[in-house]
Amino acid sequence: MRNVLKAGCLFGLSAFLWLNPAAIEAVDPEVLIPRVPEDQMAEARSWKNPYPATPENIEKGEAIFFGKGFCVTCHGKDGKGLNIEGLRGKLPRNFTDGEWQAARADGELLWILKNGSKGTAMAPFIPLVLTEDEAWHVLLYVRSLGKK
Ligand code: HEC
Repeated sequence: MRNVLKAGCLFGLSAFLWLNPAAIEAVDPEVLIPRVPEDQMAEARSWKNPYPATPENIEKGEAIFFGKGFCVTCHGKDGKGLNIEGLRGKLPRNFTDGEWQAARADGELLWILKNGSKGTAMAPFIPLVLTEDEAWHVLLYVRSLGKK
């Protein structure tokens, strides 16, 4: 029943955006739906980034984004997400979208880096590609893209 309601709301919102030319550039409301399953949400939200958003830490995260994390290959140089041919599932997230940034807690983003987003090209990166420390740094960089 809740899913039906959710779908109804989304349909209504899409219809509104479609009918409202000024809102055409607006965010796809689908990206705001939480990716973390409900039964893991409280735990995920309790994880806090132990690193402060200093210029040095953000720079470390940037190096990972463009380097060993290869986030840039899907999320793009400007973090807006690339529409890559052959990508299965949803488009890579646009990190400059302030509404999406505000909808997510840091812990939810770490959860994604641990678990990936099922049914999409977003794979788990911890622990095979990144350590948890590296992941927190790259998330500082992701957050900085929302503030530009
Ligand atoms: C192979 C392509 C690909 C690569 C590489 C990739 N991503 Fe993603 N990413 C995606 C896609 C596709 C989504 C959208 C998934 C969805 O809508 O559920 C996504 C979503 C996300 C999200 C948003 C999840 C949410 O809660 O909305 C975050 C955060 C993220 N990626 C971080 C990263 C980071 C950091 C890296 C590098 C370590 C990275 N991604 C590398 C494809 C990729």
